[in-house]
Amino acid sequence: MRYVMKGGNPLVGEVTISGAKNAALGILTAAILTDDTVTVENVPDVSDVTVLLSAFKEIGVIVERPDRHTVKLNAANIFTACADSPYIKKLRAGYYLLGALLGKYHHAEVSMPGGCNIGNRPIDQHIKGFRMLGASSHNENGMVVLDAKELKGSHIYLDMASVGATMNLMLASVLAKGNTIIENAAKEPHIVDMANMLNSMGARIKGAGMDVIRITGVERLHGTEYTIIPDQIEAGTFMMAAAITKGDILVRHIIPQHMDAISAKLLEMGCEVSEHGDAIRVVGRPSLYACNVKTLPYPGFPTDMQPQMGVALCMADGVGTITESIFENRFKYVDELNKMGADTEVKGSVAIFKGGGNLKGAELVAPDLRAGAALVLAGLAAEGISVVDNVDYVLRGYEDFAEKLSNLGAQIKLVTDEDELQKAKLKIG
Ligand code: UD1
Repeated sequence: MRYVMKGGNPLVGEVTISGAKNAALGILTAAILTDDTVTVENVPDVSDVTVLLSAFKEIGVIVERPDRHTVKLNAANIFTACADSPYIKKLRAGYYLLGALLGKYHHAEVSMPGGCNIGNRPIDQHIKGFRMLGASSHNENGMVVLDAKELKGSHIYLDMASVGATMNLMLASVLAKGNTIIENAAKEPHIVDMANMLNSMGARIKGAGMDVIRITGVERLHGTEYTIIPDQIEAGTFMMAAAITKGDILVRHIIPQHMDAISAKLLEMGCEVSEHGDAIRVVGRPSLYACNVKTLPYPGFPTDMQPQMGVALCMADGVGTITESIFENRFKYVDELNKMGADTEVKGSVAIFKGGGNLKGAELVAPDLRAGAALVLAGLAAEGISVVDNVDYVLRGYEDFAEKLSNLGAQIKLVTDEDELQKAKLKIG
């Protein structure tokens, strides 16, 4: 699938942010730790969620979607702890099944994680933690196999503050015997969200959102009704859209505190940023100041906002840099920006953006989810028509992206074949 768009319109208006994709993937998996029914609300309607739910059905979870953003799960009749469907292979977050199945059934077999190719992405910290809780682990035919007689709380020190490992180890340890301590834990908003959800099921987790998380194991978890937090990265993407297109966007239904690192950079670049309850308004300016950015774990600048910031730096006056410190292969979009006339080069983990705007429409390929969204923003700022191919990536994590952008005045259409592409080009050209 492709997005076709004509750039040049400042994006103006209001946009409502959906539930957080990365929180949803963890929280929906947490729901299978109980045999009771769990209702999760504010679930984003994105393809990663649909794929995960399809994988759940294959192992016997009863999944209902009473409305577009509500999912009801009952995992009382899971008949296998082996998740090897093609669905799981597509997802990064399929690895949460390792923690959840191990925690509940003391056995898990899950395909090695897929997801965006933005670097090496090992899961050694997850495995180290599972082992410390008492599980054995080995790889067999592309599957990770975990087994434990019983799980016992342990003191786990993560070598790096990994989001996935922190969430996975919470899933595995909430039903373990005794106390678990996770040190150097990740602090992202979805860590806190998952801990709150698990606590609402009867878990005893303290300290989520800080460096040290303490978990006291409980015998069983019960059903709950839980509402997922708004998506920090979707919100940040629309905040950047205002800066990149010199627009004026009220980004609604967010937790402004989660946006601090992004708001700070937009202010530094000369945008107006103001808080209005659960909304932030960003007003772009005719020319942005360049700045230097380094991606860091929360509360630092998120790596998932790095490509969108790269596009903003292309529109700025002067030279800006981005240092990527989380994933080693996250600058593939830079070649695409250069096709549009940008002047950008990558030296190791640093990308240098010469700025100056003047992007021209081009035929582009999305290299991954967030870079795909960033290229769309570049297309909306460029002169003329752009086509972004491979946007299945974008659909994995953004609900109604084209519709939300259109409501802000963008000329953009999602097309599935050549015929539709030509018609859309004629219409918007
Ligand atoms: C999650 C998010 C992803 C986001 C990232 C960082 C999901 C589904 N994905 O990915 O969108 O970009 O957090 O905010 O929620 N590492 C290891 N060994 C491990 C685990 C991680 O070396 O066992 C390294 C990774 O290669 C990376 C860094 O630690 O360099 C951070 O990775 P991590 O926080 O685990 O990212 P993910 O959970 O994969």
